[in-house]
Amino acid sequence: MDIKAFSGKLRDISPKSVVLFVYKEDFRILSKLGRRYSSFIRKAFDLSGFKGKEGESEKFFFPDQKIKLVYVFGLGERKKLSTDTFRRVSALAVKKLKKDKVEETILLSPRISSLISQALAEGAVLGSYSFDRYKSKKEDFEIKEILVYNADQKSLEKGKILAETQNYTRDLVNQPGNVINPLTLAQEAKKLADSLDLECKIYNEKEIQEMGMNALWSVGKGSSTPPRFIHLIYKPEGEIREKIAVVGKGLTFDSGGLNIKPGDYMRTMKMDKAGACAVLGIMRAVALLKPSVEVHGLIGAAENMPSGSAYRPDDIIKAKNGKYIEIDNTDAEGRVTLADVLSYASELKPRRIVDLATLTGACMVALGEYTAGLFTNSKNFGEVFKKIAKDTGERLWELPLDDERLRRKIKKGPADVVNTGGRYGGAITAAMFLEEFVDKGIEWIHLDIAGPAWSKEDYGYYIQGATGFGVRTCVEYILRR
Ligand code: BES
Ligand code: MG
Ligand code: ZN
Repeated sequence: MDIKAFSGKLRDISPKSVVLFVYKEDFRILSKLGRRYSSFIRKAFDLSGFKGKEGESEKFFFPDQKIKLVYVFGLGERKKLSTDTFRRVSALAVKKLKKDKVEETILLSPRISSLISQALAEGAVLGSYSFDRYKSKKEDFEIKEILVYNADQKSLEKGKILAETQNYTRDLVNQPGNVINPLTLAQEAKKLADSLDLECKIYNEKEIQEMGMNALWSVGKGSSTPPRFIHLIYKPEGEIREKIAVVGKGLTFDSGGLNIKPGDYMRTMKMDKAGACAVLGIMRAVALLKPSVEVHGLIGAAENMPSGSAYRPDDIIKAKNGKYIEIDNTDAEGRVTLADVLSYASELKPRRIVDLATLTGACMVALGEYTAGLFTNSKNFGEVFKKIAKDTGERLWELPLDDERLRRKIKKGPADVVNTGGRYGGAITAAMFLEEFVDKGIEWIHLDIAGPAWSKEDYGYYIQGATGFGVRTCVEYILRR
């Protein structure tokens, strides 16, 4: 799908179809089509009761005119619009075009800016996503070109790259555990690095143990597919303004291990690698958009399985940074793998670390499934990050790390830390556990994406399945350094 800016007169290109976005009860943009179309459509709205609420849409045929087909989509109340409204409505429009097999169109929005141009492109690419790899009959229709009236070309291009990257992440997360395991995930990382000129180091199970990453090894050793540690590096050509590490939880399947999950909780646990796949996406976007920031992508890939060689409740494991972890529950495995990966990240001495992890069901209990939990040891980093997420439309909500009484719950028992802190505040104690492995002095954000990484239903620019959550906000943050 090509998305290009267009400015000039509509009649110079005489498009066969046009898509118009309108504010609620403010249809002035219709005048761009000319008097005849606009008065016809206005009268039709009077009859149908169309108001232009967000997502409301109508379609008009003009068999005898130059423009044969006009779609109108409501944006909702003008005062309530956010950047994400444009992204959502753009996705909706594209879904409709795809359904109607319209190959080319021109899109007119009553408001346009570089941010909105980017959002429109993102919405279009995200909205055209489908996962049909395992359908024998593939969908073969593709939209060829969308022209966006008065848009900013550079922003359209950036939006397209970001959304294609998010779709790349969605594709990986949607793959089941019999296809993506720690080995094939590592191969995917290598393939990505080779195609984009990133440095890539993969460490096998022997090297993982030699490096002192016993925590990652312990979680992975119950599976017949051994764990891998993946390190990708992007180095800018000129000046380096900052060094950042992005860390992803990469459980290619989480059965719970010996503390096995009941069947209906185990379902969808192929998505427990969503953080890792987001990291691959972030590295892809960074390689294409080339910011002046050195970026390290780090993934602990493992499969959490019950077996004779699985780690057990009561086990005490020495993590890479020397701290001892007691295992209370083998299903709290993500934080155990991240202990080693965050220790490794700290050794690289970056200014900042962001980790993305489908870490706790408790975070979904706290915030619902559409919002990620944000935890940070740096007020400023957190604020900047949240502000960027307002533009990207990825919902984040900060949860506290300063409850010292709660912290005691993971500081119990025979070892330095225990891997669960009980039922209450489960997302927070998990984040506090991670904090034990981040060196003081490094600004760190933990994103618990257990909810928004996966969608049970279609909404906005998402369809049922993997969402690729986190990619756009992290990349935007890096680009604005
Ligand atoms: N991968 C899960 C968390 C999860 C749950 C992600 C639902 C997405 C949807 C994680 O490894 C896990 O099992 N966490 C346990 C922790 C508990 C044993 C302390 C949980 O949340 O129940
Ligand atoms: Mg688990
Ligand atoms: Zn898990």
